[in-house]
Amino acid sequence: MTSQVLRDARRYEEEKERKIAAEPRPDFHLSARVGWMNDPNGFSYYKGEYHMFYQYHPFSPYWGPMHWGHAVSKDLLHWKQLPAAMAPDTDYDRDGCFSGSGIVLPDGRHLLMYTGVIKENQPDGSNREVQTQCIAVGDGLDYEKYAGNPVLDGKQLPENGSRFDFRDPKIWRKPDGTYRCVAGNCTPEHDGQILLYSSPDGFTWKFERILAANKGRFGMMWECPDFFQLDGKAVLITSPQDMMPQGFEYHNGNGTLCLLGTFDEETEEFHEETDQAIDYGIDFYAPQTVVTPDGRRIMIGWMQNWDTCNLHAPSRPWFGQMSLPRELSIQNGRLYQQPIREIEEMRGQKVCHENVTFTDIIRLDGVRGRKIDMELQIRPADAENIYRKFAVRFAQDDTYQTSVSFRPYESILKIDRKHSGSRRAIIHQRRCLVNNSDSRKGIIKIRLILDRFSAEVFVNDGEYALSATLYTDAAVDGISFFADGQVTMDVVHYSLGDV
Ligand code: FRU
Repeated sequence: MTSQVLRDARRYEEEKERKIAAEPRPDFHLSARVGWMNDPNGFSYYKGEYHMFYQYHPFSPYWGPMHWGHAVSKDLLHWKQLPAAMAPDTDYDRDGCFSGSGIVLPDGRHLLMYTGVIKENQPDGSNREVQTQCIAVGDGLDYEKYAGNPVLDGKQLPENGSRFDFRDPKIWRKPDGTYRCVAGNCTPEHDGQILLYSSPDGFTWKFERILAANKGRFGMMWECPDFFQLDGKAVLITSPQDMMPQGFEYHNGNGTLCLLGTFDEETEEFHEETDQAIDYGIDFYAPQTVVTPDGRRIMIGWMQNWDTCNLHAPSRPWFGQMSLPRELSIQNGRLYQQPIREIEEMRGQKVCHENVTFTDIIRLDGVRGRKIDMELQIRPADAENIYRKFAVRFAQDDTYQTSVSFRPYESILKIDRKHSGSRRAIIHQRRCLVNNSDSRKGIIKIRLILDRFSAEVFVNDGEYALSATLYTDAAVDGISFFADGQVTMDVVHYSLGDV
């Protein structure tokens, strides 16, 4: 039975969506059906399709009482919106259905695990949000909240756990048929920790252990964890709030963190080895992963930044988009990300320019557009005389431009959207240290994917990724190249989708 609250949301989104034209939206990145979108939720493969749910406030383009929006796709690039899956309509989630995950039960039902939020008066007179973990079960379209909700509350917290920051369960099924989930939490001092829970059936849950503890290293509260094995490593990803920059890592305030290590299946202990940011651009948060039927681990994040996302025009009928789906692998002790290979099916006209040697500024025939997939192989024209700076400028006309530049002497790659249509004094550039011996010789591979209002950069076949949203009109589509010194490059440029 759908509640009146959910029926209202469904009616509203259906009517409102008709008034939004397709062009001002991204093409192959999922965006909010109407209103506001944040984190990816319930990312799973069910009945032959990928299901993506998302944090959703249909009634305005700003964050509000959280619903779950819902879309499906066969290739993670062409999306079909479905009616909202959940609304904050019960006594245990009346102030919001926060982030969570999805899994297929052996009996063929789709299980969603999410955070129920209620505001509660506290003994000290304050009014605070209390968070519990809840379940809904459905058929890919309609979901029924479980009568036993909440399935995890303050009683299943470790001694130093917080009932106020206890959210974003990510569930998985083990080969032995039992279930595990990780949830974000913090100590009374707001120090992040990831909690591990177990369940025989997906409905009855028990606290197992603190899987990872921040101990003051990476920001404060840890949100939206995901935990999996990949290429022989245990991978914990999480999105810490209030991060302090460390060198060239962790510059986004609310950022992303990947901890690589090993996991002992017997004791269920995670031993950390290395840490890195997941995305080095401006707009990327709360990523979640899914495994494809052919075994690839795919990650999608919210392509926004909490510190800058509320600065959009109130007249816009929708706000928020997801990142490209990214294929993950572990190489050279790092998390690598490559655009999902299905994007190659969307490639249209191909333009190649090989061994282009230039200084100063050039434009190349057939190289322009705001829906493109472009690969650049950059090297010095003379290995003994390395150029000082290379840049590709895009979304460009006489007034505007966005750029990705590289300085081999410092080995620093920069994305800069200062002249990309924003009228706000917010962060418009990010730098990334490309820690690689070839790059210090001026040899670097840059793949740039544009989808009207975003740029995603993949360096050296996925060693680093940088994402940023753009604010210029999609008709601003010029591309040029700049070199301070002599650069030689190969360019392979494809238009994407219907242009
Ligand atoms: C992360 C987050 C989650 C929470 C959701 C609320 O962006 O703060 O921790 O569940 O957004 O919308």
